[in-house]
Amino acid sequence: MDKLLIAGGAPLVGEVAISGAKNAALPILCAGLLCDGALALSNVPRLNDVATMLRLLGQMGVTAANGDGGTVTIDARTLTNPVAPYEMVKTMRASILALGPLLARHGEARVSLPGGCAIGARPVDQHIKGLQAMGAEIRVENGYVLAQARRLKGARIVTDMVTVTGTENLMMAATLADGETVIENAAREPEVVDLADCLSAMGARISGAGSDRIVVRGVERLHGAEYPVMPDRVETGTYLCAAAATRGEILLTQTSAALLDAVVEKLREAGCAIECRPGAIALKAPKRLKSVSVRTAPYPAFPTDMQAQFMAIDCVAEGAAVIRETIFENRFMHAVELIRLGADIRIDANNAVVTGVPTLDGATVMATDLRASASLVIAGLVAQGETVIERIYHLDRGYERIEEKLTRLGANVRRAR
Ligand code: EPZ
Repeated sequence: MDKLLIAGGAPLVGEVAISGAKNAALPILCAGLLCDGALALSNVPRLNDVATMLRLLGQMGVTAANGDGGTVTIDARTLTNPVAPYEMVKTMRASILALGPLLARHGEARVSLPGGCAIGARPVDQHIKGLQAMGAEIRVENGYVLAQARRLKGARIVTDMVTVTGTENLMMAATLADGETVIENAAREPEVVDLADCLSAMGARISGAGSDRIVVRGVERLHGAEYPVMPDRVETGTYLCAAAATRGEILLTQTSAALLDAVVEKLREAGCAIECRPGAIALKAPKRLKSVSVRTAPYPAFPTDMQAQFMAIDCVAEGAAVIRETIFENRFMHAVELIRLGADIRIDANNAVVTGVPTLDGATVMATDLRASASLVIAGLVAQGETVIERIYHLDRGYERIEEKLTRLGANVRRAR
């Protein structure tokens, strides 16, 4: 299995371009199942998860063509097999996003339950409940969701909690339903808005995306479209945190600070000078960061996907901070690995008390999930000596060309088998 070897201590300096958003590209690729035309996407990140999604669509009979420079074209008119098999779903839980579109466009779907993952049980009961409210007949048998619906009917749905992919699945299903659907308690994440904008380009009639109440008026059909995927705000935040922790000075292009208000505010509180420009963000780190407490919550609050990366910052900041994780029940697995690098962290249920230390010392650590891996990369960039991060396949799911981008910023990092 691939490892990442990092010789720490160098500040990140320079300019790097941000890739398209993984968590927008994955639902938008599934939106291609809805239309009777070609969906031509640009700014699609080259990531393992995107490759997995393209393979998943391909085995359904969908024509998926990878162009150059991050373009992908999806044509579902050749679909023959509305099934998402366990072998593929177990490697990428976002496969559940095929359920709503398959049901809405093809009247049936057989999608493996994703099962749990390292950060939590992550059930999909809200996806199922919402589709049943729209008239789908759904059975869960032998680990699969078996769904049928001649034509979905508009309904008013109130999700029990804010769910990003739940909102996305139901919004996609509602675009072809008979009548109006209202999704209350909807997720407000920018990736939900990006999906809604793509669906609208395909002819869907959606209002309220970005608020907690989304209204979809169903139409008979959706046509093909061209659509550029939004920038990846989590990749953006990750590089900002890496520059902050290494006392660096960077410029991130092809991105926007508007997507990351809560993270930018916390980085400023930690002492970073951040300048937001059209399509770019510049960060200059202080000599020593100040400890800052964060509490994760649905957008627009501090994103859970940035929690691990920010913990790495607090590990080397002046003072002590509390990091509270309110979304997932087991999203502190990076903490024990950071402690191996010399961090002072005490976990108490979903709170982590982080007391800053002057520096970290390189060691061999193990990645456990996508954002935990990013946290270990940041810590490795700061630590004195060499850090070896094992199982970095997690990292490749969500960060495009990470060692190339980090090297460009002056980091001493290389991949080894
Ligand atoms: C999306 O996951 C993201 N993934 C996650 O990013 C992100 O961490 C998460 O939203 C929260 O922002 C994609 O968009 C592909 P949820 P999702 O449904 O939709 C519970 C990354 O690192 N819940 O918003 O699966 C659930 O257990 C990944 O890029 C139910 O109980 O998350 C969790 O506690 C990790 N039943 C909470 O809601 C349901 O039916 C929020 O989960 C659905 C969710």
